[in-house]
Amino acid sequence: MQIHDLEKIFLDKIEREIKIEPRDWMPDAYRKTLVRQISQHAHSEIVGMLPEGNWISRAPSLKRKAILIAKVQDEAGHGLYLYSATETLGTSREETINDLHSGKAKYSSIFNYPTLTWADMGAIGWLVDGAAIMNQVMLCRTSYGPYARAMVRICKEESFHQRQGFDILYTLSKGSREQKDMCQDAINRWWWPSLMMFGPKDSDSTHSDQSMKWKVKRMTNDELRQRFIDMIAEQVKVLGMILPDPNLKWNESGKHYDFGEINWGEFWNVVKGNGPCNKQRIAARKKAWEEGAWVRDAAAAYAEKRKAKAQKTELEAA
Ligand code: ACO
Repeated sequence: MQIHDLEKIFLDKIEREIKIEPRDWMPDAYRKTLVRQISQHAHSEIVGMLPEGNWISRAPSLKRKAILIAKVQDEAGHGLYLYSATETLGTSREETINDLHSGKAKYSSIFNYPTLTWADMGAIGWLVDGAAIMNQVMLCRTSYGPYARAMVRICKEESFHQRQGFDILYTLSKGSREQKDMCQDAINRWWWPSLMMFGPKDSDSTHSDQSMKWKVKRMTNDELRQRFIDMIAEQVKVLGMILPDPNLKWNESGKHYDFGEINWGEFWNVVKGNGPCNKQRIAARKKAWEEGAWVRDAAAAYAEKRKAKAQKTELEAA
């Protein structure tokens, strides 16, 4: 079959909402965009364990500790599904992880901010996981089958994460003066970086146009950011707290909240590796990878042994 015909079949599937599967023909650029996005997403899940892992030993009660451990473990699971989805596109896990460690691959800017107080666990759950879900619900309908299916389970778990974050902040917001202040301070620090998670403005987004055509993305960065702001601007009222944006105002004719200018200089600075914690995050990942080498070696040796045994049994039976 000619390339032209293969491309026609591919585009027809996209048009008719039929998922593209690993063995299907796909344009190189589609494969490349998926490897880029899914692997960056996987890295975000894995690096995202670090800011919260920082508070497991200091959670204020046994119940909060158990919940936080479960949540951080969920993020590890998300990373693993997504690395597997990347492998279905012909890119090995080693290659993907090397790209993270060498600085070639990006991960979400949000995880380069420090977690200074317990209230940050609440703000991460409510705002960061809230922003993640807003983006990921649309990815359940992405055109690449393995990615879409991974997202369904991830979204269910992220909903629990957001609820537990809101619950932490709700408890603090009903507490002492110091607890209320801690709650407001965490919201103040995490609000703007959460908005940056959706990526640059549509006019500055490199990949959005093509990704929308291929239905890899189903909504643009600005559309998702606006939905998130409209949701959070209402939820913050339940906490009795405020969002740190003097320009946040309901727009009756547009039926959405107007908001102030995002500091895009800060966003690009963090993306380029100069945020408050970029260096320590990569150093922590490299250390974990090096210290886990014996586990990978043992698993590979065991798999080899099992394979040899299975071959021997097969030969004996023949
Ligand atoms: N942090 C770091 N880099 C970012 C961010 C961000 N918040 N937003 C955009 N970028 C990067 C893009 O990766 C791209 O760089 P690249 O060409 O080197 O890959 C560049 O900025 C331009 O952005 P876009 O053209 O808008 O990129 P894209 O179309 O891929 O959209 C988005 C970015 C929305 C993040 C998309 O990749 C996506 O939906 N990814 C899946 C979800 C995800 O990764 N979430 C991570 C956080 S959720 C969590 O881990 C709990």
